[in-house]
Amino acid sequence: MNRLPDTFLWGGATAANQIEGGYREGGRGLASMDVVPQGTDRFAYMFGEISDLSFKDGRNYPALTGIDFYHHYKEDIRLMGEMGFKVFRMSISWSRIFPNGDETEPNEEGLKFYEDIFLELKKYGIEPLVTICHYDYPLHLVTEYGGFKNRRLIEFYKHYVTVLFERYKGLVHYWLTFNEVNCTLVLPYVAAGVVLDPAEDRDTQLYRAAHHILVASAWAVKIGHEIDPENKIGNMVCAGEWYPYTCAPKDVFQAMTNNRKLYFFTDVQARGEYPSYGLKELERKGIRLPFVENDKEILKENTVDFLSFSYYATHVVSADERVNAELAGNPLATLTNPYLGPIKYKRQDDPMGLRITLNALYDRYQKPLFIVENGTAAADELKNDTVEDDYHIDYYREHIKALKEAVLLDGVELLGYTSWGCLDLVSAGSGQMSKRYGFVYVDVDDEGKGTYKRYRKKSFYWYKKVIASNGEDL
Ligand code: BG6
Repeated sequence: MNRLPDTFLWGGATAANQIEGGYREGGRGLASMDVVPQGTDRFAYMFGEISDLSFKDGRNYPALTGIDFYHHYKEDIRLMGEMGFKVFRMSISWSRIFPNGDETEPNEEGLKFYEDIFLELKKYGIEPLVTICHYDYPLHLVTEYGGFKNRRLIEFYKHYVTVLFERYKGLVHYWLTFNEVNCTLVLPYVAAGVVLDPAEDRDTQLYRAAHHILVASAWAVKIGHEIDPENKIGNMVCAGEWYPYTCAPKDVFQAMTNNRKLYFFTDVQARGEYPSYGLKELERKGIRLPFVENDKEILKENTVDFLSFSYYATHVVSADERVNAELAGNPLATLTNPYLGPIKYKRQDDPMGLRITLNALYDRYQKPLFIVENGTAAADELKNDTVEDDYHIDYYREHIKALKEAVLLDGVELLGYTSWGCLDLVSAGSGQMSKRYGFVYVDVDDEGKGTYKRYRKKSFYWYKKVIASNGEDL
């Protein structure tokens, strides 16, 4: 075979908290990201370091408006249809379905909103790929229960997913349980709804939340399969290989250790057990995972059907802390790779790194993979109702070439590709609109002001051609 399979799912990806807006409409409750402002302290919120989650005067809360997908979804889906999308990755805002998260009865208006979206997608033959929880929780679950630090969240999540699987049976076939689940250890507020208690050991709190999330994820696989055996349920991790800074064995081992931070999660979700290196590390730290009842069996018997991941770039690490010093204060950063190009938004483009990442995951699990985020950001300029975004095209072209090599030369089983932010959206990291990834320019500025009009960028027409030729015409 020298072509991608005809079933390859081309499309784009978004998340409710970054596009929807309409935060008080349709009976929706407040969500954890609603109260995270733009600004220099945004990461402190995401790290779970801010306990005062009230709205502050004079601050800008971009999730409240997003790109107003809530009112524009028909127009947006029409644009996706025009590009020939086969799949659209989106997430459901939990607080639209259960405004507080702990109710028994779901909010019908919220359920109907997503049903209408799925029906609209169907008109264009677009398959939804639904992230059940993408970086937002009903705020009440954070403030009253402590997010996934609390085991009760597992029950609320089980109830939530049961409602979704039942209601959307036949309309949705592809599901992701939690966005970037491995970020629980780095960004506990966004990934797990956790505000850290300074009085308690940090790692103990993080691993407790991680265990609860992993158990909840396995329950979702079980419930989803029971309700509809046709459901394909995947995990989702933030990927991108760690390279050693040099070929010194200690640097190589350090890179392996960093890669294991991701495998700690995928090993559980794809193999059903915590890996030995992870258990040993926890033993050394004196941390006990809060196993109860049948957690072990649930994890073992409900592994994912496929693995999905975001890939933006690779990372470099040294075993020498002095060399890593530039990482200090910014856990998302990485050493500069002298073999790659310029640093843009803290990343260096590395298309071959995508091929390496795909191979590493496929070698390890032999399960189908799905690239559900990939892209590069830029401060686009709208001129004559379009954007000449050749830089986006160049990035996508090189990464699509790399994924084709992984499939066609290495034999990796890949279900599809959804680029990140197919419509411009609010950046998770900076809260800005001016950090744009998409094929469609949305006229909103960093203050949330603008006409909200949509414009096709040059990359829109390019991607349409890529999809029409199933990745041949790049
Ligand atoms: C991923 C998240 O980590 O990266 C997305 O799943 C996020 O929600 C994306 O938007 C890009 O990061 P940023 O900070 O540029 O929005």
